[in-house]
Amino acid sequence: AQIEKGGYDHFMLKEIFDQPDSLTDCLRGRLDSENMTLTLAGVEQHLSVFSQAKRIVIVACGTSWHAGLVAEYMIETLCRIPVEVEYASEFRYRNPVIGPGDIIIAISQSGETADTLVAIERAKEQGAFIFGVVNAVGSSIARISHAGAYTHAGPEIGVASTKAFTAQLTVLAMMAMKIGKAKGTLASAEYDRLIAELALIPEKVKTTLATHEAIKEVAKHYADARDFLFLGRGYNFPVALEGALKLKEISYIHAEGYPAAEMKHGPIALVDENLPVLFIATKDAYYEKIVSNIQEIKARKGMVIAVISEGDTLIRDMADHVMVVPEVDELLAPLISVLPTQLLSYYIGVLRGLDVDKPRNLAKSVTVE
Ligand code: G6P
Repeated sequence: AQIEKGGYDHFMLKEIFDQPDSLTDCLRGRLDSENMTLTLAGVEQHLSVFSQAKRIVIVACGTSWHAGLVAEYMIETLCRIPVEVEYASEFRYRNPVIGPGDIIIAISQSGETADTLVAIERAKEQGAFIFGVVNAVGSSIARISHAGAYTHAGPEIGVASTKAFTAQLTVLAMMAMKIGKAKGTLASAEYDRLIAELALIPEKVKTTLATHEAIKEVAKHYADARDFLFLGRGYNFPVALEGALKLKEISYIHAEGYPAAEMKHGPIALVDENLPVLFIATKDAYYEKIVSNIQEIKARKGMVIAVISEGDTLIRDMADHVMVVPEVDELLAPLISVLPTQLLSYYIGVLRGLDVDKPRNLAKSVTVE
């Protein structure tokens, strides 16, 4: 097992550090930034289905569901198609309104999650078009889908998903770009700009992971926390949910993720000098808003940790601790801003002496209800 871990202490850490490579694999043969081309066979073969779609429904569970939430923002922005994101377990039992003309995107690392599988079987019977975004080649969800795009992240052993998530985001971004371009809702210049941005992602992932020692230091301050609040807005709202999920899975610290502006409708009641609040606060359209959310927490003596963009001295001065990431287009920001939260959860889990690769009560793939 030591050899399989490639010299790392745990699969989770290895898989976090795999990400520059796993994302390069995900982009290989698809993105060509020299010629400014993007190919995604599964989407291209069904471009008319996507271009004519009245709506898209995304079904998934766990971390894959968080990737779906990011995709909602991406697809609505670039393609102007309404998107709903559903927990597969709710969708399958709810007798949802689905029929011909609807597109269902199923997102799954394993391709074997029972709830997601049954949800798409039902939707398929009702005439929907099923598109799988799956990591495990030849898995059940991949086989039952009408079309799909593999994430090519390689095998993921750690129970808590890391590299599969960023590969899902990459595929979903490419899908939104292709469909938006075909529909004409994404201008050529914007499309080209996003291609160039996407090509830089593996390198930016590497730069971010190189800050791991600093993140380990942050972890030392919070390893004994009892609760944690994760806040973000826009594209970084699902990252807040994912950060909270990762922390509770790995460290057993109770953590909640919330849209930052929504905190005043509840979670703000929890804030005192013992509550760490982690903001995903990279430079984007919501930046000024998130700054005032941070002020609201500081005014109530909460401890603030912030994921910030390089060069951001304003939040650096306000926060108790920061984790710094390179600047990136806001549509692709989750690919980078999630990385410090993965590492923070990992280091806190290790400091608490827990089995980070196999957290209690969790399974890598939930193939029963
Ligand atoms: C389990 C795993 C999670 C995963 C979820 C969905 O809960 O522990 O890491 O996100 O299942 O799995 P899938 O394979 O469908 O992405």
